[in-house]
Amino acid sequence: MSINSEKFSLLSKLPQYVFSSVNELKHQARLNGEDIIDFGMGNPDQPTPRHIIEKLLESSVQGRNHRYSVSAGLPKLRLAISNWYKRNYDIKLDPEEETIVTIGSKEGLSHLMISLLAPGETVLVPDPCYPIHSYSVLIARGNIKEYNSIDDEKLLENIELGLMSDPKPKALIISFPSNPTTQTVDIDFFTKVVELAKKYSIIVIHDFAYADICFDGYKAPSFLQAKGSMDVGVESFSLSKSYNMAGWRVGFMCGNREVISALKRVKSYLDYGIFQPIQISAITALNETQDCVKQIRDTYKSRRDRLIDGLGKAGWDIDPPKATMFVWAKIPDKFKSIGSLEFSKKLIKECNVAVSPGIGFGKLGNEHVRFALIENEQRIQQATRSIKKLFK
Ligand SMILES: Cc1ncc(COP(=O)(O)O)c(C=O)c1O
Repeated sequence: MSINSEKFSLLSKLPQYVFSSVNELKHQARLNGEDIIDFGMGNPDQPTPRHIIEKLLESSVQGRNHRYSVSAGLPKLRLAISNWYKRNYDIKLDPEEETIVTIGSKEGLSHLMISLLAPGETVLVPDPCYPIHSYSVLIARGNIKEYNSIDDEKLLENIELGLMSDPKPKALIISFPSNPTTQTVDIDFFTKVVELAKKYSIIVIHDFAYADICFDGYKAPSFLQAKGSMDVGVESFSLSKSYNMAGWRVGFMCGNREVISALKRVKSYLDYGIFQPIQISAITALNETQDCVKQIRDTYKSRRDRLIDGLGKAGWDIDPPKATMFVWAKIPDKFKSIGSLEFSKKLIKECNVAVSPGIGFGKLGNEHVRFALIENEQRIQQATRSIKKLFK
């Protein structure tokens, strides 16, 4: 349905996702009986580990868990979060003051922007970026200023240029390992970001959704490991990818007390916390065996290898990403001129393969498409064979 965006002013800033035209093609092809191999959305295809589901079953039959919960998250879950940081990153957090549970990262980031921004204030966001990084700002009636995040060498330089702009940004969003670009950074990068944050008096928001999905010996650092980071920023994490819990909607945000308490205040007006059995199951996910995290990581690695190998055989050479559940592929020269949207449509129509066009993540994404590694290896092979035929 078309909506009159003069009547509802925010809607003029929230156009239909670019992805919707690719989704429509995919849908039509499926209605016509085509088997589409779908690398479109970063929606994990594997089930949540059994021991986490068992905990949900056990806790959901207990009546006391059916009441309103705690908006900021159960104290035991916040303790599990601070223990997770201690174990994984040697960071000490005060569960009461420096952690908050969110209804997935998207909810946390969106309400964070509402908590921090006055209408018209500016936030520096990456281009390309995961869409909520920019739309959360617009939803909060803020303005976005984009920085070029595609050029690894100039990343810090581009961030600093953005920070020097007028009007002066209030906050900066970063996210590594990155969706969609799969870029990774080391702790030095975060240390320099902290220095910039202090120099320009801004708040840093780091989205750490792919903390655990790292390969080939690379371990992604936490922003909170950087000296002084707790003075300037927060980090958001999600159980969606590390534990295949995308539909459960659990995440958390940690770091600077003032920022966390601002989010807590706003959320205390908006929600009563996640359904308690889900929070109890999240405690199990964080506290108990982490073998499942390794298995999930290994699955993405094998799929990454199969895809890179298959695309290579088709003549499409891509450097294997060190992290995330994506492959960010530069469109081959032969098809570059048509742009990422038309190229994605071509892949659906001629190969029965769905990917996300890079333009959907920002204008600088237009020379790339993103494959989400949510199909099994056999189907990945089938997809790369079709692509090989197209390229011939
Ligand atoms: C960078 C990034 N942040 C956040 C999310 C969403 O996480 P959640 O399911 O916790 O809302 C995603 C999901 O794809 C993501 O790629």
